[in-house]
Amino acid sequence: MGYTVAIDGPAGAGKSTIAKLVAKKKKYIYVDTGAMYRALAIHFLEKKICPEETEKVIMACEDADVKIAYENGVQQVYLNGENVTSKLRTEEVGNMASKTSAIPEVRGKLLELQRGLAETEDVIMDGRDIGTNILPNADVKIYLTASVETRAMRRYNELKEKGAVCDLEKIKTDIRERDDRDMSRKIAPLKQAKDAILVDSSEMNIQEVVDTICGYCK
Ligand code: DC
Repeated sequence: MGYTVAIDGPAGAGKSTIAKLVAKKKKYIYVDTGAMYRALAIHFLEKKICPEETEKVIMACEDADVKIAYENGVQQVYLNGENVTSKLRTEEVGNMASKTSAIPEVRGKLLELQRGLAETEDVIMDGRDIGTNILPNADVKIYLTASVETRAMRRYNELKEKGAVCDLEKIKTDIRERDDRDMSRKIAPLKQAKDAILVDSSEMNIQEVVDTICGYCK
């Protein structure tokens, strides 16, 4: 087993931004587990399956092959041989991933892939259940959160920068719904592990969060 850092927290808390920077500074491999759920979500969307059609989702898992590769240190996600990395970060894919990740077979499909990556490498892995379920013996566990208002505002600014039309209230509602789904599902819900360090980034800038987390890591 390599050195392992688990970062869990709700959508929009900045996990991936922070984890990438910590990885660079500490020379860990950054593993984005949400991207794996998103790759499966693309597969379900391509097959025009609704997230409520549990049986169809389970069957579709059988012909989905998700693989991870690193190109210049950046995680690339392959779905049945196709690099889908550039297609992962849409609201449609995120919502599909959030809904289908509540299905045990979907989680089971990705469990070994995630654990396997931590076996040989020093990793910082982000997600919802890394400290509680995937890497219960992680060397460092961080629960990174921020208020709904802060997370919504960050998302709003991000979308505005891309020139997208966006509505702050709608973003807040989406975030609340996603939190609710991710925290209330029966299997591996998002929650702070007993031994995780709580970092609330509402009043912190990126560098402060990176420095705080690096301070806990070897
Ligand atoms: O981190 P993200 O927004 O890319 O994740 C998309 C969805 O995938 C998230 O809403 C819930 C699910 N997910 C999960 O259930 N467990 C993880 N370890 C990572 C993501």
